[in-house]
Amino acid sequence: NEQVTVVFTPSGKRGQVARGTTVLQAARALGVDLDSVCGGRGICSKCQFSPGIGQFAKHGLTVTAEALAPPNAVERRYDEKRGLPPGRRLGCQAQILGDLVVDVPAESQLHRQVVRKSASERVMEMDPATRPFFVEVTPASLEHPDGDAQRLAAALAAQWGIRDLEVPLDLLSRMQPILRAADWKVTAAIWQGGGRPRLIDLWPGLRDAPLLGLAIDLGSTTIAGHLVDLADGRVRASAGVMNPQIRFGEDLMSRVSYAMMNPGGAAEMTAAVRAALADLARALTDAAGCAPRDVVEAVLVCNPVMHHLMLGIDPVELGQAPFAPATSAALDLTAAEIGLSTINPAARAYVLPLIAGHVGADAAAVVLSEAPRTAKAPVLIVDVGTNAEIVLGDRTRVLACSSPTGPAFEGAQISSGQRAAAGAIERVRIDPATREPRFRVIGCDLWSDAPGFAEAAPPITGICGSGIIEAVAEMRLAGLVDASGLIGSAEQTGSARCIAQGRTHAYLLHDGPTPVMVTQGDIRAIQLAKSALYAGARLLMDHFGIAQVDRVVLAGAFGAHISPLHAMVLGMIPDCATEAVVSAGNAAGTGARMALCSVAARRRIETEVTGIERIETALEPRFQEHFVAANALPHATDPFPHLPP
Ligand code: FES
Repeated sequence: NEQVTVVFTPSGKRGQVARGTTVLQAARALGVDLDSVCGGRGICSKCQFSPGIGQFAKHGLTVTAEALAPPNAVERRYDEKRGLPPGRRLGCQAQILGDLVVDVPAESQLHRQVVRKSASERVMEMDPATRPFFVEVTPASLEHPDGDAQRLAAALAAQWGIRDLEVPLDLLSRMQPILRAADWKVTAAIWQGGGRPRLIDLWPGLRDAPLLGLAIDLGSTTIAGHLVDLADGRVRASAGVMNPQIRFGEDLMSRVSYAMMNPGGAAEMTAAVRAALADLARALTDAAGCAPRDVVEAVLVCNPVMHHLMLGIDPVELGQAPFAPATSAALDLTAAEIGLSTINPAARAYVLPLIAGHVGADAAAVVLSEAPRTAKAPVLIVDVGTNAEIVLGDRTRVLACSSPTGPAFEGAQISSGQRAAAGAIERVRIDPATREPRFRVIGCDLWSDAPGFAEAAPPITGICGSGIIEAVAEMRLAGLVDASGLIGSAEQTGSARCIAQGRTHAYLLHDGPTPVMVTQGDIRAIQLAKSALYAGARLLMDHFGIAQVDRVVLAGAFGAHISPLHAMVLGMIPDCATEAVVSAGNAAGTGARMALCSVAARRRIETEVTGIERIETALEPRFQEHFVAANALPHATDPFPHLPP
């Protein structure tokens, strides 16, 4: 049998195949990723490629137009009916007759990496757990008296090498009419996320529409979700809702106390969060205009307390030493088990592993997204929420801890504080000469001193987390607040905006129907929160044996809104060159999307968390010392050489 040489680009894989082999067969033989949903029947066009004709000095090949057989009847029919892009051929039909260079376009690569234009220019690995497979099932007959599920499983084994298929009850009850109406040709969504492959759904004929997945970041305050196309990783819709558990307690520990004090309290909170998840999923499918059944997978990331409450596990043990979670392993569940009833009834749900009883699956998602293991020099990753989760690492080791910052950074427990919503002051500048403020509110692009602001801005209702942080930092820079955090009087500061309030003072940021003040109590609340954050970071640095970090990554939605300079003026983070402080946006959400799009990413983070050294702040006497020293702005003793004098 005559052999010919074939080279695949961009992978560069090459080898000899028998003349007459199809491009798809050659790709499989050489281990090249070439997609196929229909199994080589010439109907899905996922196997498209572009042949290279001409001289390829690099590959030592001369390719002539005769290297490929002309389109056969199947390929011609596809081209007539659906149309192939110019220069493209179907890999499952085109036969190789001579030495050939095959260019596999990105959309035909099965495990492709998709680059998304996002804040972080993220590269998404695509090897989702659930994928569509077109399959022709042997019709039921007196000669083939097996069950339909057995004949479907046999067809998947023969045509796709998928063995030992598990068929859930929901599918057993629905599959018979679908198979018959579709003349036994169906597209099966098969989950292969580990263990036995599982049938998720069946559609008649070749299904063209993509399968979808949900990536959910279940936070203590908000629940954010992305609806993602499992073929290319694209986000089809995003939405966020408030976590309804807030009514049981603002922060995590108060929710744990609620569970401890009230019989049935944990179950109540479980029901509330599951209902919110179902609502969020419905809102996302509505927004994207797709059927709930198209959503075949979900990935969830959350802190340990939310993790337990979402799973229906009493979080009591997480509230007391030794803070043991019921499980810290990654979980493969059905979505229905966690109340996600508004997506495909057989959909799977994957929950990332916890790092420790205090450091959650959300931190694991941040590690997946930020990959500290690949850093040459120590990078500090801070995810600020009600609890700060802090990771410090480089390619040699990775450490993690969590620190109880409380909700002040989110605008809670602040006198004029409110959530980030229209009407909230989000940016603040104070002129160091006049000590007069200007600000921006959510819902308006103008600064408050710009012409037209009064007409354009929504009514000002309060100040949000990023606003209060900037306000306190700006007050410090303008000399309205001293290093101990004390607000000066009007006489001391020369600003009539410093108003006496009992024995302390407050700064009037905005005078209007709802005045917005920064009180002494607000400054104290920010000092406590930032001291906890800084002390956690310093503790990790002690364990790592370094006095300086090379890079700081601010994760969390909130990280996107804090300027590095302001974070450092307050001493929220250790001293570092301001250009080396970067925002990673919602890194936990990005990590959730990565795990949704890739089984390899799931396996990677499962292995990686077992190697993370966990530091328990509650057990470390030095945490208290660091905490006290960090109360000053920016710090009592640690130098901040990168701050302007
Ligand atoms: Fe489906 Fe080629 S594999 S058209």
